Amino acid sequence: MNNTFLKACKGQKVKHTPVWLMRQAGRYMKEYQLVRSRVDFLTLCKTPDLAAEVTLQPINILGVDAAILFSDILIPAEAMGMKLEFTEKKGPVLGEPIRTKSAIDRLIIPDTEDSMPFVLDTIRILRKELEKKVPLIGFAGAPFTLATYMIEGGSSKNFVNVKRMMYKNPGLFSLLMDKITATTIEYLSAQIHAGAQTVQLFDSWAGVLTPHDYENLVFPHIKQAIAVLKKLKVPVIYFINSCAGLLHIAKKSGADVIGIDWRVDMGRAVRTLGKKVSVQGNLDPCILLGTPEKIQESTRDILRKASSARGHIFNLGHGILPETPVENAIALVEAVHAYKKK
Ligand code: CP3
Repeated sequence: MNNTFLKACKGQKVKHTPVWLMRQAGRYMKEYQLVRSRVDFLTLCKTPDLAAEVTLQPINILGVDAAILFSDILIPAEAMGMKLEFTEKKGPVLGEPIRTKSAIDRLIIPDTEDSMPFVLDTIRILRKELEKKVPLIGFAGAPFTLATYMIEGGSSKNFVNVKRMMYKNPGLFSLLMDKITATTIEYLSAQIHAGAQTVQLFDSWAGVLTPHDYENLVFPHIKQAIAVLKKLKVPVIYFINSCAGLLHIAKKSGADVIGIDWRVDMGRAVRTLGKKVSVQGNLDPCILLGTPEKIQESTRDILRKASSARGHIFNLGHGILPETPVENAIALVEAVHAYKKK
């Protein structure tokens, strides 16, 4: 069993820095596209054999040190009662966006085994398949990031509806956050009980908030979720995109690992976060579109700067792009594994 990933999460000594890539199963791989040509994205997420198959592709093809469950952060929004679609042009679309008290009241806090059994079945298949290989990461959207999709009805540029609710009707926003947080705790606990060995919370949009609003309206929910999940004794990773202005707050989240995007220098991030957490990140995904030399150089720079952290898991600063040549992703994994700490 390659346990470098779990060890680095806990800040234990490792023989090489572990690496995995956010969105490592995806369209940049022809093997993924082949599976996707037969089923739509949501069917893929809801068919355990296929979801497990694509989860395993990057383990075999890239040689990464962890697997991440193939699913999507919006699956629980559907289970809460919203209509979910993935369109080719607009990406995810959630029908009847949540803007009123009655809409929030209608949302349910789903039982995972009842309403998302396919997620747990996928995890169970994967744990068998991954035996003696690498650990499995489960995940969910962080409450604020999920709330943005539920309030906007999909992806957004200025988050006008989210922020209008936050500033005009903070009580309503807080009610929605409470319900999403309860769902997230139930959902990730179920994933852990089914066999997930680490869980990651994706806060893809927290970086659009002022530090003050993040700290007061969003962070208490993060702390609450992490405090409950930590009792289940698996490492918790908290990834924030555009994290630079929020790291001094995120440091107090209780997470074992803080995932950081590429807009902040790794050395600076480590200094801000201190010695009590491990770090994950933070190569700009676009560097994988560059030359092998550029990939080597940027990878080593991050590894060197992260060497003073309690622990480091190498990753991209956000998801891998569909335009990425697979051989560059392989070269990245090799470069991380070949790096010798001085
Ligand atoms: O990391 C992995 O390999 C696991 C799978 C995974 C997916 N989505 C598969 C996916 C994970 C961890 C996610 C998380 C997710 N989903 C996030 C948080 C991380 C981030 O990227 O910020 C968000 C915001 C979503 C919502 C989402 N799903 C969007 C906005 C889109 C459309 C944009 C896009 O990349 O197409 C998706 C679709 C999606 N989720 C795809 C995959 C592989 C592409 C769908 C396809 O095959 O057509």
